[in-house]
Amino acid sequence: MHDQTAVVTGSSSGIGFAIAREFASRGANVVINSRSEDRAATAANEITDETGNESVIPIEADVTDPDSLGELVDQTVERYGSLDVWVNNAGINIRGPAEDMSLSDWQQVIDVNLTGAFSGAQLAGQRMIEQGTGGSIINVSSMMGEQGQTGRTPYNTSKGGVNNLTRCLAVEWAEHDIQVNAISPGYIRTDMVDDAQDQIGFDEQDVIDRTPLGRFGTPEEVANCAAFLAEREHFMTGEILHPDGGWLSFGWGSKS
Ligand SMILES: NC(=O)c1ccc[n+]([C@@H]2O[C@H](COP(=O)([O-])OP(=O)(O)OC[C@H]3O[C@@H](n4cnc5c(N)ncnc54)[C@H](OP(=O)(O)O)[C@@H]3O)[C@@H](O)[C@H]2O)c1
Repeated sequence: MHDQTAVVTGSSSGIGFAIAREFASRGANVVINSRSEDRAATAANEITDETGNESVIPIEADVTDPDSLGELVDQTVERYGSLDVWVNNAGINIRGPAEDMSLSDWQQVIDVNLTGAFSGAQLAGQRMIEQGTGGSIINVSSMMGEQGQTGRTPYNTSKGGVNNLTRCLAVEWAEHDIQVNAISPGYIRTDMVDDAQDQIGFDEQDVIDRTPLGRFGTPEEVANCAAFLAEREHFMTGEILHPDGGWLSFGWGSKS
């Protein structure tokens, strides 16, 4: 990824951090983003220390604020001269019964996961179209975007939206050689999953038993999918990759 400039939203921790580190290890200029300048700077320093790549910078921005996302794009281009890869990774989950869900909780999840992804893709797409050199936009969705579940209506709905956002933008921007794809991970051990375990106390063994590969995935395994999509040595656009250990392929019943 030498000479490529990549922005990863929500890369202070978890999957976003692993994607940013993978891009940095492949030689890209990488922008780390968080709502906190400190968290972004800490992550950027850690990645530089680990990979030896000095072209890793932190930029604070909130994906629900289009002005701050615009600043993120402008500062990236000012620093590195181009924008080639954009990853919409920032995401949150608010759980609860649908009948009691407040509209503000619903809106918060949609604002970050879906509208944030659209705003980011729109700004990145505008820049890539202006550059005329194509690009890769990667949306981090979730296998839950293709599933009904109790207590997760805003999250699962937002990710279903992200999947079709991916298809629409892929078709619309193909003429500009911008490839738009999504990654829909299964259960990956991160703060988000730890929070879920604290809040709703799901049974870890249940997840392991439900997953054909018999374990949680790692952020690094998702990051490898992102690097594959970012390097653009493939013919895919509008595609949704599923690093889920076979979770979606498994219907119902015992694995044995
Ligand atoms: N873990 C899983 O099992 C799993 C499975 C499927 C999909 N996913 C998806 O993977 C993505 C990353 O999740 P994760 O598991 O790595 O969770 P995580 O560790 O909680 O990371 C979430 C990241 O999003 C950032 N963020 C949240 N709201 C933001 C906002 N408004 N603006 C900018 N950044 C924001 C956070 O940064 P700050 O708090 O520093 O701002 C953090 O870096 C999400 O889209 C999630 O839906 C995760």
